[in-house]
Amino acid sequence: MSKIKVKIFNDYKLMSKTVANEIIKRISKKPEISISLPTGSTPIETYKILVKESKKLKLSFSKVKFFQLDEYLGLSKENSMSYYYFLNYYLFKHLNFDEKNICVFNGLTRNLEVECLFYEEELKKTNGLDLILLGIGNNGHIAFNEPGTPIKAGTRVINLSLQTINANSRFFKNIHDVPKYALTMGIAEILEAKEIFLFANGENKAQAVSNALYGAVTKNLPASYLKNHPHVTFFLDKKAASYLN
Ligand code: F6R
Repeated sequence: MSKIKVKIFNDYKLMSKTVANEIIKRISKKPEISISLPTGSTPIETYKILVKESKKLKLSFSKVKFFQLDEYLGLSKENSMSYYYFLNYYLFKHLNFDEKNICVFNGLTRNLEVECLFYEEELKKTNGLDLILLGIGNNGHIAFNEPGTPIKAGTRVINLSLQTINANSRFFKNIHDVPKYALTMGIAEILEAKEIFLFANGENKAQAVSNALYGAVTKNLPASYLKNHPHVTFFLDKKAASYLN
């Protein structure tokens, strides 16, 4: 049976507020926390609240160790479609992170192996992240670990699935502009985190969420691997939870 805790909220705003507050609680308790946070549509409200509330509380991020979850290959940090740009836009530039505590992927790297090894080494130093917040793809991906990813997969380059390219094309002018490859933290490293949050809103996530909670643990749905972890909480709005019993 799954040990995953499930919290369901009336709407996106309430879900976002709760997730932001849970992150704030953990940073207040452990200012040197190591953390990884996603990009995409789901986190936008959470990050707005996180920034607003952290400023109100004068919460310092100077000791927080931040690890980027994933990044498109071929996009520079300055490219507004890159995940670094997103993180900077919504988080880094508003909060007093220390640059030396931020570990990000170089989407323009020419040496993929070295890039992944460097990231894995940095991650190893943390001895498992304290907290990872994940979104979920409508195909059940977590970070950019697409269906078919083995449980032991580490940091690596991934060929994005057609479903993900289609879903993410909403951010790009043209579907052909969506990068086909990305760098991602692996499942192995995600499962080493001490605590995992996954949040989802909207009916287009309902099937993946329900399969992750009720279905078998399978490489066809990477989010189902979270069932192997002892401290996972799903934060869902009513629509994302609409296929749950
Ligand atoms: C992005 C990431 C992805 C997204 C997922 C959901 O950094 O890790 O796994 O969390 O694709 O994206 P949205 O929130 O845009 O539906």
